[in-house]
Amino acid sequence: MGRGMSFPMIQFTKEKVVIVTGSNTGIGYETAKWIAMMGACVIMACRSKEKAQQAIQRMQEEFKAEKAKKTPGITDADSLNLEFMSLDLMSLKSTMAFIESFKQSMRPLHILVCNAGLGLSPYELSEDGFERMFQVNYLSQFLLTAHLLPIMKTSGEDCRIVLVSSNAHKYASRFDVNSIHYKGDPEKFSSYQYYSKSKEHQVMQMFSMNHRLQGSNVAITSLHPGVVNTEFSRYIQERNCCWNCIGKCVWSGAFTRTPFEGAKTTIDAAVNPKWKGKGGIYFESCKEATPTAQSRNEEYQTALWRHTLELLKNHLPTDILQGLEGKNE
Ligand SMILES: NC(=O)c1ccc[n+]([C@@H]2O[C@H](COP(=O)([O-])OP(=O)(O)OC[C@H]3O[C@@H](n4cnc5c(N)ncnc54)[C@H](OP(=O)(O)O)[C@@H]3O)[C@@H](O)[C@H]2O)c1
Repeated sequence: MGRGMSFPMIQFTKEKVVIVTGSNTGIGYETAKWIAMMGACVIMACRSKEKAQQAIQRMQEEFKAEKAKKTPGITDADSLNLEFMSLDLMSLKSTMAFIESFKQSMRPLHILVCNAGLGLSPYELSEDGFERMFQVNYLSQFLLTAHLLPIMKTSGEDCRIVLVSSNAHKYASRFDVNSIHYKGDPEKFSSYQYYSKSKEHQVMQMFSMNHRLQGSNVAITSLHPGVVNTEFSRYIQERNCCWNCIGKCVWSGAFTRTPFEGAKTTIDAAVNPKWKGKGGIYFESCKEATPTAQSRNEEYQTALWRHTLELLKNHLPTDILQGLEGKNE
């Protein structure tokens, strides 16, 4: 289960800027809170202002409790440096609005954690016409990394992008760029298969970007957080009795990690000095692990990369495209 795995507490100042997507609950919540407790300024990129504000309040209370316990390594500031910024990954328009608003703030960006994700959700199309797990888990967060990369490249040494993927990528069927989008009967949609594919896409994105980031100050990694007792199973509960039972067995009780345990691999990838400058790694339980041969296949990675750029072409101006390809160094 990986109990006992840990991350080092690093001393950051509030000038260290971190974005964590989907940080109002679950793994993202613990990731944002612990990095903020190291002293960094953490931007909570969430779709619900109300949920994010409630989360910030809870984090501040939990921080006070950690201080009272004299937890080693936490900042001696009076309160955590946490900010909400609106981001709905179901919408490319909202994703672009988030990007523009971050750019306008003229801030640097040192760590970007693409954590937000939807699991096993029934078939639904976004306003952009994409199946929602594809868009939320992969496409919109690809757009985010593409646009924020130029800022990271000018933000000083040791900048990191962490993509929270899953070992579910191991269950993706044979890669075929023509079967990325489901075209069949919505009733027959396999949410597990398409969740697995979306997580495989993230691992492939990590390899493709890592290749292009060689020699730069930005490293990209991805990871499996474990099976974690979060709100992740929320869609399963809406489904039939069989799925409901499986979901309840898998995502509750003794076989799962707590959200804090589940966040450790993400936090370690984001802050541990030992991973400085080391991109292209897939982590599991804070250690290097091996993703599938299919996700490591360069031909498939290239096909996915080209397809993604085509899908996002209206949102990727030439300078961003050149930056992605490492051509404007
Ligand atoms: N839990 C596990 O066992 C497990 C295993 C492997 C991988 N993972 C991965 O870990 C990551 C975090 O999942 P979790 O377990 O912490 O699940 P969670 O508790 O359901 O949290 C998911 C987060 O993503 C956000 N999100 C969902 N749709 C969004 C959208 N359209 N725009 C912006 N944010 C959105 C959610 O916001 P709302 O609260 O507003 O919906 C929430 O903050 C995911 O990428 C998941 O695939 C989880």
